[in-house]
Amino acid sequence: MIGSGGHARVLLEVLEEAGHQLNGVVGEYSPASKLPDRYTFVPDHNVLKEFSTEDYLLINGVGSSSDLSLRDRLFREFKDAGFNFLQLQAQTAHISDSATLFEGVQVMHKAVVHSEAVIEDNVIINTGAIVEHHCVVAESAHIAVGAVLCGNVEIGALTHVGANATILQGVRVGSNCIIGAGAVVLHDVPDNSIAVGVPAVVKSRS
Ligand SMILES: CC(C)(COP(=O)(O)OP(=O)(O)OC[C@H]1O[C@@H](n2cnc3c(N)ncnc32)[C@H](O)[C@@H]1OP(=O)(O)O)[C@@H](O)C(=O)NCCC(=O)NCCS
Repeated sequence: MIGSGGHARVLLEVLEEAGHQLNGVVGEYSPASKLPDRYTFVPDHNVLKEFSTEDYLLINGVGSSSDLSLRDRLFREFKDAGFNFLQLQAQTAHISDSATLFEGVQVMHKAVVHSEAVIEDNVIINTGAIVEHHCVVAESAHIAVGAVLCGNVEIGALTHVGANATILQGVRVGSNCIIGAGAVVLHDVPDNSIAVGVPAVVKSRS
């Protein structure tokens, strides 16, 4: 697993519940993250490149409360080196048979991904989030805990949809955006924007 913070800690439990075996963690051991010290911790992620890409499957344990660039960069770097990433679904998640999930997608406990939704590479659908029918969530986006995407919503790459935010049906949120916690988004949001409040007010991220 790449990363040793809070998201990694939750993933570890979801992994074990799903019957996977974790071989080690790339990241510093930190008592604060409370990852058990029985695992091997390797601070330098370049060490992974000495491992066989066929014998090991990676999991991206880097989470985010707004900036997804590190998570995205690590995914790309190790894909370029020939590694594959585990797609992980918590046991209490509900994923429609007609939904499509790409590589490295993580669907956490009590999250729902409904009919015909498409979830692209390296996306987190976090605890209790709801992705309704025909939504498209682009690569390395994060749908944070309790967020709701009503039907036919599009979320761009590297966009963070904050905890308990609601995106109304048919809205398109661009790439590299931050939707604040609790926001209610009524209208489309352009790339590189930040949107907060109820109803959400949109500003440029720069
Ligand atoms: C939107 C967000 C990224 C802004 O963070 P920030 O840049 O550090 O902003 P600040 O805390 O300095 O606040 C700036 C202003 O925005 C307001 N604001 C911040 N977050 C807000 C939110 N979610 N809703 C409404 N207003 C918000 C603040 O009150 C402040 O207003 P002011 O200038 O009138 O005082 C952050 O507050 C947020 O909501 N992050 C999402 C967290 C999340 O989803 N975590 C889940 C992890 S699983």
